[in-house]
Amino acid sequence: MVKVELSLRDFLQASPPSVVVLATCVDASGKPNIITLGMFMPISFDPPLVCIGVSPKRYSHKLIEETGEFVINVPTEGIIEETHFCGTKSGREYDKFKETGLTPRPASKVKPPLIEECYAHLECRVVQRYTCGDHTLFVGEVVAAHINKDVLGEDGKVDILKAKPIFQRNHIYYGLKRP
Ligand SMILES: Cc1cc2nc3c(=O)[nH]c(=O)nc-3n(C[C@H](O)[C@H](O)[C@H](O)COP(=O)(O)O)c2cc1C
Repeated sequence: MVKVELSLRDFLQASPPSVVVLATCVDASGKPNIITLGMFMPISFDPPLVCIGVSPKRYSHKLIEETGEFVINVPTEGIIEETHFCGTKSGREYDKFKETGLTPRPASKVKPPLIEECYAHLECRVVQRYTCGDHTLFVGEVVAAHINKDVLGEDGKVDILKAKPIFQRNHIYYGLKRP
């Protein structure tokens, strides 16, 4: 097979669909915002740490930097349009909770709210921050985690098919299907 060169951007476009999450954050007055993120990765179990990659161009970048807190919310097939809206409009111009109809629900340990319509949530406090080229890698310590009871199977473990998470590539969204 002939192999041709390609950029990282093109490589990513050719990669399989991958995780998409909604991160919530708040401004100094407590007003919440939502940003759609593909750059999300768990990185440590003990202590529990996750990473997100956020461009300094995003309004959410300023909020996370200023408050040091964010919540990871996992969206489902039922809120694909809302997920796309939060990934294509800025909180500088839009109140994304109001525009999408998504419901904020108080978190237990941090100021950014959970998104009621998402099925799993990680409340995080920023413990490290790295500039990585054109994005900032925020490392968040998970201080609380929650999941909808109705996505647990009879054995008490998460049933991913019940949860109906979504994946994305090039703004095309995909669901899970058992053959
Ligand atoms: C599917 C998808 C994934 C995205 N992933 C990221 C990401 O990982 N990091 C990032 O900085 N922006 C990402 N974006 C872009 C932001 O979500 C988008 O610029 C958003 O409007 C920023 O909102 P804000 O200005 O309110 O923070 C993504 C957008 C979409 C649609």
